[in-house]
Amino acid sequence: MAFRDDALAGLHIVISGGCGAIGLGIVKKLVAHGANVTVNDILSDQVATDRLRQHGIDAEKINYVKADLTDPDETDTLISAARQHFGPIHVALCHIGMVIPKPLLEYNADEWDETMAVNVRTAFLLGSAASRSMLEDGIKGQLIFTTSWVADVPWPEIGPYNASKAAMKQLMRSFARELADKGIRANAVAPGIVSVGLAKQQWDTDPTYRARAQKAIPLGVMQPLDSVANAFLFLCSSAADYMTGTVLLVDGGCSLYPMDDA
Ligand SMILES: NC(=O)c1ccc[n+]([C@@H]2O[C@H](COP(=O)([O-])OP(=O)(O)OC[C@H]3O[C@@H](n4cnc5c(N)ncnc54)[C@H](O)[C@@H]3O)[C@@H](O)[C@H]2O)c1
Repeated sequence: MAFRDDALAGLHIVISGGCGAIGLGIVKKLVAHGANVTVNDILSDQVATDRLRQHGIDAEKINYVKADLTDPDETDTLISAARQHFGPIHVALCHIGMVIPKPLLEYNADEWDETMAVNVRTAFLLGSAASRSMLEDGIKGQLIFTTSWVADVPWPEIGPYNASKAAMKQLMRSFARELADKGIRANAVAPGIVSVGLAKQQWDTDPTYRARAQKAIPLGVMQPLDSVANAFLFLCSSAADYMTGTVLLVDGGCSLYPMDDA
């Protein structure tokens, strides 16, 4: 099924980490369906705008804001800049993520803290600031968190990442529970092993990871970027208006199998 090109017309969507591999695919999809998108990342304006242009994204429909979202003040600055440019925010995508691949017993405390700060703290700060702006502007909006199938399955050698995604899932459910009566919904998209970005880097550089991943995808191929972007399109659209507190799992069946020692 295809969505109409104007399915998201009139929506202002903010995405954090939007110049990463998956983020660019999501931004392109949302803009192609009529949304105005404020794109955040920590990249320079020049690098970010070059990337967005190279992906063929309509410059009129995007506003790039450089900000480090581990910082509450920079998060507030993002929200102000977003509202100033495109008006009230309807949807905020808490999408930033990072991973340090190594066995759990080799992680040190700083690596744990960094993973939690980049993945969970940024999601909390953006989710909170965006919700406050929606309440001030009288918007019945939505938060969407990018989690992962590994929020529920302990994929080896990324333990703190698994824990961070489980924390994001429960954070999403907490936003959904507390803000439902104010008309603000919260949901998550949980991708599988995607053919771009963090997983692809491991796939290309770590033969052990690749062997394990090849066994773990029931549908047999790495996840197409478009399948992730389509999940965001659906959740942002009015077709998902009655959904809150839900994880939309789009993982090619990865989570169906218990991990063996492949
Ligand atoms: N690649 C996969 O297979 C996969 C699978 C499931 C979930 N995910 C999730 O999808 C999201 C995107 O992953 P990706 O593979 O595109 O990674 P990516 O590294 O390509 O993108 C992440 C982006 O976040 C930005 N960023 C990092 N710290 C930031 C900060 N403090 N403030 C603002 N921006 C910051 C980075 O500059 C980068 O552009 C992550 O949440 C990731 O956990 C990825």
